[in-house]
Amino acid sequence: MAAQNSDKPYPIFTADHLDTTMTTLGPNVAGIRASLGAGDFATAKERAIRSREQLATTVTFWRDNRRDDALALLRTALNRLDALDAALSTDATDAAAVAVLTTEISDACAACHEIYREQEPVSGEYRLRSGALR
Ligand code: HEC
Repeated sequence: MAAQNSDKPYPIFTADHLDTTMTTLGPNVAGIRASLGAGDFATAKERAIRSREQLATTVTFWRDNRRDDALALLRTALNRLDALDAALSTDATDAAAVAVLTTEISDACAACHEIYREQEPVSGEYRLRSGALR
């Protein structure tokens, strides 16, 4: 994964990196739900932390492309993953509160996807919405 533009002093986070990160993030976030459904709060918490770490790396993409609105949407999603981590870190986990947080996390993902993601009509694959960065 060499940086394509040698003028930049740091590695570039390309649209391909964004795609790869999102593709890994999806199953991890689904895994949070699965663990919660099974009452396994410890695994849910590990997955929430891992998901947060993965999602956080995408900040570079939106910064490089100067998308303040996307950065705000990203921040909301990260804050909600933090809140879930905190809720799962208490001795007596409030299952109802955790359920609300997981819905709020999905909403935060969807809020960015509505603006910045589109589906390729034939293959059904997701990609960055064309023209979104102009
Ligand atoms: C700030 C914007 C933003 C946020 C927040 C965001 N995403 Fe994405 N996501 C995108 C964009 C843009 C794409 C399309 C990129 C691509 O797939 O090439 C995408 C694609 C995806 C895909 C499809 C990957 C593929 O190609 O199959 C999944 C799954 C996904 N995101 C999961 C999530 C989850 C889960 C969250 C919340 C925890 C989340 N995303 C939060 C912008 C965002």
